[in-house]
Amino acid sequence: SDVAVIGAPIDIGGNCRGADLGPAAIRHAGLEDALSEAGVSVTDVGDVPVSETGTEPVDAIQSTTAAIADRVAETLQQGARPLVLGGDHSIAIGTLRGTARNAKSGVIWFDAHGDYNTPTTSPSGNFHGMPLAAAHGHRDFADADWSIAPSIPEENTVLVGLRSLDEQERDALRRADVTAYTMVDIDDRGISEIVDEAIDIAASGTDGVHVSLDLDWLDPRAAPGVGTPVPGGATEREAHLALERLAERDADDDVLRSMDVVEVNPLLDDENTTAEAATDLIASAFGNRII
Ligand code: ARG
Ligand code: MN
Ligand code: MN
Ligand code: MN
Repeated sequence: SDVAVIGAPIDIGGNCRGADLGPAAIRHAGLEDALSEAGVSVTDVGDVPVSETGTEPVDAIQSTTAAIADRVAETLQQGARPLVLGGDHSIAIGTLRGTARNAKSGVIWFDAHGDYNTPTTSPSGNFHGMPLAAAHGHRDFADADWSIAPSIPEENTVLVGLRSLDEQERDALRRADVTAYTMVDIDDRGISEIVDEAIDIAASGTDGVHVSLDLDWLDPRAAPGVGTPVPGGATEREAHLALERLAERDADDDVLRSMDVVEVNPLLDDENTTAEAATDLIASAFGNRII
């Protein structure tokens, strides 16, 4: 299968600078080779244009995510699968818009966080904590108009690995018709079973699944280079098992339609550990096997 790599070097949606170096760090960790070895034919289409300086975060995010959405939609139209490299998680506003342009898509959101805030509920005001709520058409995004609610149904949205929610964000998630698995569920039932269930829910009645991988889903010991680390995350082994399971299901049913990999911040990293983890996990998702 064909994969198109799209860089989205933006950090203005996050809590600190440096996630805009994520795409370069992931490329330097050997992404193209890793994907080729996984049997994927890969094209790197470069970065989307970003202008962060002198603009309000919301305007920079508006124009960057519009460009991401176009590239993602074009890629899918050409029959390839978009792999968008962040950047902070606000880039998912663009990936989701693009993936949902002519299709109905489920979502699996691997993240310590819910990213279900809005400009009114967010204690931080950072847009990387809002992309999923924006896609679901929650209020308070009126000016930006990021809603794609009918194409990304709540009932096909699954969050995996939650362990940090803000108060009003928790209320909004409870009210929403999404499925949310916390780290406790993973501890309790094991990651393979959770991922199997997540794929069933996300894929049901849709054209495929978008996978959003926030590196802070992993435990900070495995992925230290992130802006909002939360202890008690997935181990490297659990993360690989999850994405290998996804690849297995994809081999049977073509479930994986698009992916973004976000929040790698080289300025906070230990050597290039987090970008290397991202690269290895992407390879697992696209079918890399030991034997
Ligand atoms: N909930 C916090 C906030 O809204 C943290 C969000 C972190 N999101 C992320 N994609 N790392 O600011
Ligand atoms: Mn920047
Ligand atoms: Mn997160
Ligand atoms: Mn996130």
